[in-house]
Amino acid sequence: MARTYDHPVSRRPMIAPSLLSADFARLADETARIVDADWAHVDVMDAHFVPNLTFGEPVVKAIQAVSPVPLDCHLMIDDPERWAPAYAELGARNVTVHAEACTGDPRDLARTLRAAGSLAGLAIKPGTPLEPYKEVLREFDTLLVMSVEPGFGGQSFMPEVLGKVREARRLVDTGHLQLLVEIDGGINADTIEAAAEAGVDMFVAGSAVYGAADPGAAIAALRAQAAHSFPTP
Ligand code: DX5
Ligand code: ZN
Repeated sequence: MARTYDHPVSRRPMIAPSLLSADFARLADETARIVDADWAHVDVMDAHFVPNLTFGEPVVKAIQAVSPVPLDCHLMIDDPERWAPAYAELGARNVTVHAEACTGDPRDLARTLRAAGSLAGLAIKPGTPLEPYKEVLREFDTLLVMSVEPGFGGQSFMPEVLGKVREARRLVDTGHLQLLVEIDGGINADTIEAAAEAGVDMFVAGSAVYGAADPGAAIAALRAQAAHSFPTP
């Protein structure tokens, strides 16, 4: 079968530190500390879809204005059809909505996000199967597999989600889907190798990066560890 995706020759691990673990009083400085990251992961929580509240569009707009790293907005909110396009319009590189929160066809929202200038991402919680979204994902650029229950940083990685990562990787490698496979929750030096082996492209890491004395060194170490565990062509 013809490959529409350039895996595995040029596939490389990418790291997206989560600002959820940063100092919220110094967000500009905190983005400057991760200048070598691929994306800066921004967790928007509404205290409805998840039992926690962070910040919304005005704060993300302020981060976008100063961040040297493209923003990866993870919207853990109800009614993404109403709220998500604004994050694409403010300049985020990728905007991810939760499949469980969409009330309409997620493909319509993906088209809206892409038309507004961002990549379109679909997130699934640990208990949400991949199967019902295989067709829908043809319209998306990223798939975010949650490896903790969304809502809080610093939780333990759930290895049982790696089956979904393997299946998504297979669908990409066989040309059925064209997307980045992203994982979020509990990624650190102890867990990143298993996620890399399963087929993740983009690794979100909050406490493992911002909890380190040198976030830049933590990013480099995680990236090297993941690269070491990537399947060889
Ligand atoms: C959790 C968030 C994650 C969180 C990850 O709901 O979506 O992005 O920041 O934090 P760690 O890496 O500490 O699990
Ligand atoms: Zn997140």
